[in-house]
Amino acid sequence: MIPKISTLSGYLHEYQKSVANPTGFWSNIAETFYWRKPWVKTLDWNFDEPKIEWFKEGKLNITENIFERHLFLRGNQPAIIWEPNDPEEPNRIFTYRQLYEEVNKFAHVLQSMGVKKGDRVAIYLPMIPELAIAMLACARIGAIHSIVFAGFSAKALADRNNDAQAKILITADGGYRGDKTIPLKETADAALEMSTSVEKMIVVKRTGVPVNMKENRDVWWHEMMTGKPVSFEPVTMDAEDPLFILYTSGSTGKPKGVLHTTGGYMVYTAYTFKNVFQYRSNDVYFCAADIGWITGHSYIIYGPLLEGAISLMFEGIPTYPAPDRYWQIIEKYKVNEFYTSPTAIRALLAQGEEWVDKYEMPSLRVLGTVGEPINEEAWHWYHDHVGKGRCPIVDTWWQTETGGIMISPLAGIVPTKPAYATLPLPGVRPVIVNQEGEKLYGKNVEGNLCIEFPWPGMARTLWGDHKRFKEAYFSTFPGLYFTGDGVKRDEDGYYRILGRIDDVINVSGHRLGTAEIENALNEHPLVAESAVVGMPHDIKGQGIYAYVVAPERPEGLEDELRQSLIKGVSKLISPIAKPDQIQFVDALPKTRSGKIMRRILRKIATGSDDFGDTSTLTNPEIVDKIIKGYEKLNQ
Ligand code: PRX
Repeated sequence: MIPKISTLSGYLHEYQKSVANPTGFWSNIAETFYWRKPWVKTLDWNFDEPKIEWFKEGKLNITENIFERHLFLRGNQPAIIWEPNDPEEPNRIFTYRQLYEEVNKFAHVLQSMGVKKGDRVAIYLPMIPELAIAMLACARIGAIHSIVFAGFSAKALADRNNDAQAKILITADGGYRGDKTIPLKETADAALEMSTSVEKMIVVKRTGVPVNMKENRDVWWHEMMTGKPVSFEPVTMDAEDPLFILYTSGSTGKPKGVLHTTGGYMVYTAYTFKNVFQYRSNDVYFCAADIGWITGHSYIIYGPLLEGAISLMFEGIPTYPAPDRYWQIIEKYKVNEFYTSPTAIRALLAQGEEWVDKYEMPSLRVLGTVGEPINEEAWHWYHDHVGKGRCPIVDTWWQTETGGIMISPLAGIVPTKPAYATLPLPGVRPVIVNQEGEKLYGKNVEGNLCIEFPWPGMARTLWGDHKRFKEAYFSTFPGLYFTGDGVKRDEDGYYRILGRIDDVINVSGHRLGTAEIENALNEHPLVAESAVVGMPHDIKGQGIYAYVVAPERPEGLEDELRQSLIKGVSKLISPIAKPDQIQFVDALPKTRSGKIMRRILRKIATGSDDFGDTSTLTNPEIVDKIIKGYEKLNQ
């Protein structure tokens, strides 16, 4: 069994141990898993190339650690409880044995379609059980899954599939989200028009909308599953064989294919899941994220299932049919641990207390948040109204690249403080550095958040672009992993995440690169150039503010042009990337070397006029004009 910390002194002790002897610490945890062949070296690393290898030459299959490891004791216990979008529709519950059989059947399907170890399989599915089955079947046969959030556009899906050179795409006819039906197959068809590698498409029937099945390319999931055997010998994987690619936004235009490998990710997600949430056997755990993002990968599927947990998967949204949907689910299934985002909390807070106050939710023991900084008001509301003042909140800081939670209280063990992620987990060594790269020790310091020692769950590379991996994370401060976040350490030694300090904005917990949105805006024939920055937003945390230079825009038709730009961004990326405000400007403030002075544009979008030095601008006069335009637009 994975060791579980149960007291504050126990945490401090484990932390010390993990720093003094990291390889001894992690190998003790790794030994609790099932390895087909033990590793020969626990860790081989340097942050220069960079090279990170954990559990070297160890052989395993992650699904064997989910299924075979638990079947004897938990065969008849639920693994996944699936709650549909519509509360009137029946739920679906999969025991470990049932899930195991479905995964094996689908592994046969993939194999029959020619998928082999190392092939990439793209998954573009809504939050239905087939998504879990598909990803685990990939892991069972050693194929690398690349899950693309079902809210992404055809172009975004095609770009990701082309980068990964995916062989197969798995999608559904459609998906339900609240009162909307999303035409996924239609989008997938459009994506395949632009695809260079996908040969076959497997389609799950979910909504029953009529779809076009292309002969010799498209097959139905249910037809393929018919008659497939319920056992499948798992493929032996090396600890460092890729498990999945997950695309995320960076500060340049092209999304990054973050690559996670098998052994280290397994050990890290299971250990952090058990300890952060203080999961107890037979608890019902509900993470409300989407599996299209890293939170769903690590804390709906891999971490909980590796631990033999009961993981609740929800198809819908928190406000449908009414804003008490989460609370209803928590009461219905007697949920013990609940994990969501600050955006969801703020959105529900805005609906009024009466929706949550009707529910006692006595089963709840732990609350978690992830994805963006949580403001104190939302923290207190979550604590008082959802947790009724008796559930600790774990504010978990981590990233797609870190694979699992890095800085967070252990529930009920590390004392919490609103808006603080508190202390690093055992094995995690954060450092704060200033712009010069000097490490800032002691209390009450603020700077760039870096990590100075590897942990098993960290990304190993970016798919097909190790150079970019090095540049993005290991070059700003040589010898350190740079997170892109600003952070403060207070007088208690607690960490508070201050948000991104690069050109990434965090909208409702979704990470978006400003360059990606600018590229989409610039596609419009009337747009000469644009600059996108984040702005404060009451619900979403950050909103998107776009400054657009469109000299030949027809007079009096600015609103029409705005609408057409917004449509264009939705089409090229996703509705989540739509600008909240578009300001037309004559020019952008630029330095003599032609770089856009984003610092100034960021300040203007927050309503501030404290710009610091503007003397390096070639066109300082433009700043006043932009401010006037801002005031006019936002009065
Ligand atoms: O800025 C941090 C913010 O989300 C970024 C990572 O985004 P992504 O890779 O999409 O993963 C989100 C889910 C793990 C981080 O660089 N972030 C994440 N968690 C927190 C946070 N900011 C403040 N507090 C958090 N708890």
